[in-house]
Amino acid sequence: MKNRFFNRDIVSIKDLDRYDFEGLFEATDKISNLPPTRKQKLAEGKVLSMLFYEPSTRTIFSFEAAMLAIGGSSIGFADPHSVSVEKGESLADTVRILEGYSDIIILRHPNDGAARFASEVASKPVINAGSGTEEHPTQAMLDLYTIMKEKGKIDGLNIAIVGDLKYGRTVYSLLYALARFEPQVFLVSPPQLRIRDEALYDLENRLKITQHRSMEEVISAADVLYVTRIQRERFPDPHEYEKVRGSYIVDKSTLEKAKESLIVMHPLPRGGEIKTEVDSTPQAKYFQQAHYGKALRAALIALLLNEEINVRS
Ligand code: CP
Repeated sequence: MKNRFFNRDIVSIKDLDRYDFEGLFEATDKISNLPPTRKQKLAEGKVLSMLFYEPSTRTIFSFEAAMLAIGGSSIGFADPHSVSVEKGESLADTVRILEGYSDIIILRHPNDGAARFASEVASKPVINAGSGTEEHPTQAMLDLYTIMKEKGKIDGLNIAIVGDLKYGRTVYSLLYALARFEPQVFLVSPPQLRIRDEALYDLENRLKITQHRSMEEVISAADVLYVTRIQRERFPDPHEYEKVRGSYIVDKSTLEKAKESLIVMHPLPRGGEIKTEVDSTPQAKYFQQAHYGKALRAALIALLLNEEINVRS
């Protein structure tokens, strides 16, 4: 069957349908189980360009580790001050230069629309590794993959998403990805950090969503508790951040009110919203979630590079 990811830009999660997600998850499992010698052929001789205009730990290093695992290599920058961006070089010129040295461009940028713009400039595939407050599609892919691995399904689950639903770009990609399935979603946030209206109006037609102020209202029904960091760096006024700082804390007493089978996820990094005492509980899946990111991104790169990969068995 045709590999629909071949040579494609991954700019918005909205561009993927359920068939794409299921194919990607199957490919992730298949590629993870390949013997190393076969895995190393998937990106042999290929180069990934990583253009990170904002800080990253998981995304940048999991892409790098993924590329190494499938036989390729990577170049790029994690600090725009260390390259000619510092001398005023434009995003368009930076993309044009790096695409001449590589086969796929990974871009993280503080501006909404930056990844779409880069994909229009580049003739090679561009993967959005986080653009402004807008989207982080590969995070949503690995989030859904984590739910599939840990719960065996997405349809029919009660998924509570807690924290900064206004500025957290992972939330937007996650919600649009979940809209390809049939879960019940509980959105929990302080009033100031509710999901942006335009997204809510759009998503309400695609997904069963209810909004809540308190985690207490949903914790006993939740199958997945997806916690997010309040995005201090995206607040226009630091005083507004102070008003909502520490609004939600997940600790062992939170888990006592939940189903034993609850899983706790977080895109990370965390602030203080999940106490470290939760880390050793069976419900804590956020480190595993980050580790799934390497396998998922390796599969995504392999699919972008290799037309002949059969994604569905
Ligand atoms: N989840 C995530 O995008 O983490 P980083 O910012 O460390 O890449």
